[in-house]
Amino acid sequence: MASLKDKLITPITQPSTQPNNKVTVVGVGQVGMACAVSVLERGLCDELALVDVLEDKLKGEMLDLQHGSLFLKTPKIIADKDYSVTANSKVVVVTAGVRQQEGESRLDLVQRNVNVFKFIIPQVVKYSPNCMILVVSNPVDILTYVTWKLSGLPKHRVIGSGCNLDSARFRFLMAEKLGIHPSSCHGWVLGEHGDSSGE
Ligand SMILES: NC(=O)c1ccc[n+]([C@@H]2O[C@H](COP(=O)([O-])OP(=O)(O)OC[C@H]3O[C@@H](n4cnc5c(N)ncnc54)[C@H](O)[C@@H]3O)[C@@H](O)[C@H]2O)c1
Repeated sequence: MASLKDKLITPITQPSTQPNNKVTVVGVGQVGMACAVSVLERGLCDELALVDVLEDKLKGEMLDLQHGSLFLKTPKIIADKDYSVTANSKVVVVTAGVRQQEGESRLDLVQRNVNVFKFIIPQVVKYSPNCMILVVSNPVDILTYVTWKLSGLPKHRVIGSGCNLDSARFRFLMAEKLGIHPSSCHGWVLGEHGDSSGE
């Protein structure tokens, strides 16, 4: 029997079965959701998948984004703690793990987040063997190396966010001092994204 949609709409072409530009964000904490919103606002993907271990939080964040669909160009927003939801991603952004508590350095997070990555990265590669992985979790430089080793991907497909944040902060500080917009102030912070940044 024809569905209501079939009665209302005559298809003129077959719907595509696979996404062309799928992005996955692993970890829907503050950083993960900022990434997800930025990707959606720029219309960078035709499908967005979210993964986290906290099922209630994951569902809540997914529903919030889905309810904003009216204002977005991404037709499909999905979430699950099972990594099959990430299948065929082009880009996977990893923001999962613990963050610093007061008095902790980024390096103090290393063993806990390596353990988290030992689970996440093989799952990501299993479902999206051709993806590019962007690592954000800290200590980001070490975890980027760990991701490269765990994933078995060629090195150009594993990227860390490095000192991009430090550089953006540097440009903002220059802009404040000079009274002009950060986009008119240029400079890079190079080296480790950690307590030694900017030294
Ligand atoms: N590279 C940078 O410039 C930069 C900047 C800010 C924060 N960070 C780092 O990003 C990470 C996230 O920060 P945040 O503020 O969003 O933290 P957060 O605590 O708000 O979020 C972390 C999320 O990861 C999830 N998570 C934990 N274990 C998981 C697992 N095994 N699988 C899937 N999800 C899991 C948690 O449930 C939580 O939702 C931290 O490591 C932080 O230090 C990096």
